[in-house]
Amino acid sequence: MALPGLMRTHHCGELRKEHVGSEVILCGWVNKYRDLGGLHFIDLRDKFGLTQLSFVSFEGNIGLLKKCHLESTIMAKGMVKERPSEATNADMLTGEVEVHVTQLTILSENNIDSIPFLPYGATEASEELKLKYRYLDLRTKRLQDILSLRSKTTFKAREVLNGEGFIEVETPILYKSTPEGARDYLVPSRNYPGSVYALPQSPQTLKQLLMIGGTDKYFQICRCFRDEDFRADRQPEFSQIDIEVSFATQDYIKKLAEKLVINLFGFDDDFEVPRMSFDEAMRRYGSDKPDVRFGLEHQIVTEYFKESDFKVFSGPANNDGMIKAIFVEEKCGDMSRKELDALTEVVKPHGGKGVAFFKVKDGTPSGGVSKFINEDILTKLGRENGIWLFCADNDQDVVHSSADALRRHLGQHFNLIEDAYKFLWVYDFPLLEWSAEEKRYAARHHPFTSPKLNCVADFLNGENLATMPAEAYDLVCNGYEIGGGSIRIYQNHVQSKMFEVLGMSEEEAKYQFGFFLEALKYGVPPHGGIAFGLDRIIMLLAGTDSIRDVIAFPKTTSAADVMAGCPSKPATHQLDDLNMRFKD
Ligand code: AMO
Repeated sequence: MALPGLMRTHHCGELRKEHVGSEVILCGWVNKYRDLGGLHFIDLRDKFGLTQLSFVSFEGNIGLLKKCHLESTIMAKGMVKERPSEATNADMLTGEVEVHVTQLTILSENNIDSIPFLPYGATEASEELKLKYRYLDLRTKRLQDILSLRSKTTFKAREVLNGEGFIEVETPILYKSTPEGARDYLVPSRNYPGSVYALPQSPQTLKQLLMIGGTDKYFQICRCFRDEDFRADRQPEFSQIDIEVSFATQDYIKKLAEKLVINLFGFDDDFEVPRMSFDEAMRRYGSDKPDVRFGLEHQIVTEYFKESDFKVFSGPANNDGMIKAIFVEEKCGDMSRKELDALTEVVKPHGGKGVAFFKVKDGTPSGGVSKFINEDILTKLGRENGIWLFCADNDQDVVHSSADALRRHLGQHFNLIEDAYKFLWVYDFPLLEWSAEEKRYAARHHPFTSPKLNCVADFLNGENLATMPAEAYDLVCNGYEIGGGSIRIYQNHVQSKMFEVLGMSEEEAKYQFGFFLEALKYGVPPHGGIAFGLDRIIMLLAGTDSIRDVIAFPKTTSAADVMAGCPSKPATHQLDDLNMRFKD
């Protein structure tokens, strides 16, 4: 039974034939108004649906209807009646009935002349306008459905984690820098002039401190803040399902994550996510988050072109570069010269200079670079009918990312992408990556990730750092990284060594992470965890490729809230309180 006290007796998606004869009160927005030669009808809308209001037997002030502009909110009392058979509407859940209104109250009149757009209007508003008047866009069924989906999904996640003995713990937002590879958002302190809090990029150190504090199994649906470059799947503030477990192995974390996926995506209990090492993912897909819904895998063909007369290939083949090929079978379709030439634009943003190609028909190469394809090379590649496409460069990273972009483009072009959820664990990520600019190592995941357990001795000796794998894993779905985690360093001397390897002086490490290093001295359970990108999970479930669709009040690509108009200039007295001035 619904709690009493709402202004309405039913919602607008609720009334059916069985309600015929009851007196009801509905509240909602005017979605449509029709005047059929003096017979007035309104389609009343709320989050739950639409109901037709009929004013055929209305004895009140019919002039009121003039004020019932689209998007005004009204309250209507009346009798539920069956519609005449010719007037039923099979597309409407409530289409067999209508409410014959006896009392009408206008709750809030919409100013129809100034409303920037109608959420159910005939013309599409621009993205910018929709964000500025987000509350109008939120009235659409699509966005309301996504908000409900998000709520149900977080509820399910909480259920699963509670069922496994996890407790939800809130951690501070005003905190200290937690490096996750982005810039921090800083909050100046009034009590400590000249000092700042940092908004957490994730609660990484805090969840580890909870393990040290004996919490055993922690989770939190938490907000993270990262000042980083934008992409369609990134927001400056986003949500994670954040998890940490004491005395856990990678296998436990993976099984737990799979259990969550089973519940959130509605899979069978025996669902398991295939696993692939980082090296294999890079070799076969040129990406650490490959979309495995389609083939077109990469082939490394560098060796075949060492002796080639084609300088674009022999150069990289003899200079530690790389050549990757993709073969498109004839059955996938053909590409015109124009389409093949346009592929340069696909690889350019990734540093690629172009895409070489040739076609094979009945064992004979033709077009593109075919004159450099001798018998020997053709035999190694294969003689089936189709198109061979190549990315070559002296820089192997350029080849991987160009060939990745090319593969994704071809997958779409030839319509090869299966309409399904395809998950993958990518594991054994490199522990470190070399920053040529800063001439030092950076942590590939974050500085609290353990080297692969059998490499810890080498790590402490500073050996094989460039190629050392980490106890780190990502969960990938349809080309999105939806979760990432690791087994953590839990020994003080290993963590200190990590800060040293990352180029931090002892003083710096102590200043930034002294509290954490000290905590690692007092008896620490080995622990590990993972964080899921909640927004990305909802994107997948809702079938949208824009993260803005799944957040009630998202930011623009330049991190602004155009509705409230922020960031905004503070008042002088606020700056005075903070003992701050901005540079001109
Ligand atoms: P990581 O940085 O990999 O790990 O983040 C975990 C997941 O969060 C999502 N994500 C984002 N979603 C939207 N907008 C963003 N800007 C954004 N950045 C990341 C991704 C990603 O997989 N503390 C570690 C987790 C751990 O080690 O347990 C962390 O935050 O889906």
